Amino acid sequence: MNRRKFISTSLAAGAVATLASDTAKSAQAGSVTILGISCSPRKGKTTATAVEIALDAAKTVDSRVGTQLLDLGGMEISGFSGAANPPDDDFAGILPELRDPVPDGLIIGSPSYFRSMSALCKAFLERLAVLRKPKLLLADKPAGVLAVGAYRNGGQELVIEQIQSVLLCHEMMIVGGKPGAHQGATLWNLANDDITKDEFGIDTARKLGIRVAQAALRLASKKA
Ligand SMILES: Cc1cc2nc3c(=O)[nH]c(=O)nc-3n(C[C@H](O)[C@H](O)[C@H](O)COP(=O)(O)O)c2cc1C
Repeated sequence: MNRRKFISTSLAAGAVATLASDTAKSAQAGSVTILGISCSPRKGKTTATAVEIALDAAKTVDSRVGTQLLDLGGMEISGFSGAANPPDDDFAGILPELRDPVPDGLIIGSPSYFRSMSALCKAFLERLAVLRKPKLLLADKPAGVLAVGAYRNGGQELVIEQIQSVLLCHEMMIVGGKPGAHQGATLWNLANDDITKDEFGIDTARKLGIRVAQAALRLASKKA
């Protein structure tokens, strides 16, 4: 299976169109790509929807902003032990999406599991160690984080902080959103996996997407 096909099959429903439109944008001068990563083991559920909402908002910032959604749901990804040979699992299939080329910005989402990031999220973040050596490939790229919980105050901000701490080890530039979402997007799965009922949370996801896109454009223009 080639790389695009692998990613497409991993996408939440509706996200394939996002990928298709991005291919066209990649040709535009000064374009940036924001990669959204949903770290719930449940594919296409509330975390994936929240990341998609943030990505859709990112696209409204400028026609040069393209987005991709990588839904880790259903994937087998082990943590990293420091061993010379990485585990033989699904991470190998998504690695090209993370470094060939490196996205201009990241939006990472995790469900709150006992007020912590999901085990899948932690394993994925540990495997990102390969992007640190010999060069910090994610350095100086903006990153925004969101978390979804079954409770309004279910540990979302704690989850966000945990993920941000890891991303700082890559020297990424952490951004939140505008007021209401300063640390990141906090969503509440209040209606049987229908995240769209959480108006406040949706607003924070949009604000996060916008801020990451704005930062990516600014940072990309400084590099040019
Ligand atoms: C093992 C486990 C632990 C959970 N712990 C919390 C928690 O501490 N706080 C919370 O608000 N929700 C908790 N939840 C609920 C999920 O965060 C919530 O259902 C979320 O929307 C799931 O994301 P998904 O739909 O993308 O899978 C937990 C769910 C599971 C399976």
